[in-house]
Amino acid sequence: MQDLSELQRQIESIKAEIRQNAGELKNSKELYELKKNFLDSKQGKLSQLMKGMAQVPNELKSQFGKAVNEAKQWSLTFFDEFDTKLKEQELKLRYESEKIDITMPAEKIKPGKLHPITTVRNQLVDIFAGMGFSVFEGAEIETDFYNFTALNTPQDHPARDMQDTFYLSPEFLLRTQTSAGQIHVMESNKPPIKIISPGKVFRSDDDATHSPMFSQMEGLVVDEGITLCDLQGSLNMFVKQIFGEETTTRLRPSYFPFTEPSVEVDVSCFQCGGKGCKLCKGTGWIEVLGAGIVNKKVLENCGIDSDKYSGFAFGLGLERIAMLKYGINNIKMLFESDLRVLDQIDE
Ligand code: DAH
Repeated sequence: MQDLSELQRQIESIKAEIRQNAGELKNSKELYELKKNFLDSKQGKLSQLMKGMAQVPNELKSQFGKAVNEAKQWSLTFFDEFDTKLKEQELKLRYESEKIDITMPAEKIKPGKLHPITTVRNQLVDIFAGMGFSVFEGAEIETDFYNFTALNTPQDHPARDMQDTFYLSPEFLLRTQTSAGQIHVMESNKPPIKIISPGKVFRSDDDATHSPMFSQMEGLVVDEGITLCDLQGSLNMFVKQIFGEETTTRLRPSYFPFTEPSVEVDVSCFQCGGKGCKLCKGTGWIEVLGAGIVNKKVLENCGIDSDKYSGFAFGLGLERIAMLKYGINNIKMLFESDLRVLDQIDE
């Protein structure tokens, strides 16, 4: 049996417990759990008080019930107010954590750009297209005939050793030079011919300045009365646009089976203006391409009358041009797609 003062004592101690526990709450979820401890209709501590009613004498029952109900009401109000407070606090914390500093500089978005080899290729195509050349796209898989034999380089010719070839079969290979395109063009076109042919070529060669796959651009002009002067005139126009107005060329005798005479073409050093520096190894000149007057035998191999027509041809490496232009000393840097390198190359 419980008397009222005992009940009041229990109610006060429950209230004290509620206040104390509430002080440790961190969020409204914890508050919900705490609320259950006291107000759950079966387990709740306040609801349990009602169970004592059976032992309460009849005349005290209404006062007993009233006291318990008041305590429940008090706790409901207490929890509601506390809940509001907690929610306000949670919201404040969220605002705090989601705060945006609109004075921060915006993150830079890097736009994509073309690979330096593509840029150089586009520039060369533009320059030569401006001189009336059209573009011929050759195939990367060639026959031995187009890559060598028709270019005056038969099976036992020592010049074959100049290029380490990837053979796919005795007949097929990965082209070692875009020169193979010359034959296709001359077989299916009559002079006047004026083409360039950019593309990938392949050689079993691998060091700081050579890669097993690299890019070349071939040039071929066939017409009546074509001479080395036409070659040098065209190349001068090209080097001035690529390396600067002051740049000139010089021709040195060389050897290629498909040209006679053959030349190596140097450009005047665009870094020191010809005085001699690290780039030109103190010589004032930088070698950029091979060229020459198309060998009569090559014209004849393609059914072109070599007494009536003559031509010039040249072949250059795009990686070499890009390395010179952008000051890159290892060809691998052009193939590794390292953004730290590519970012520094701006056109
Ligand atoms: N095909 C030669 C090479 O890969 C480059 C070359 C030299 C091409 C002279 C030509 C030329 O058209 O006339 O080394």
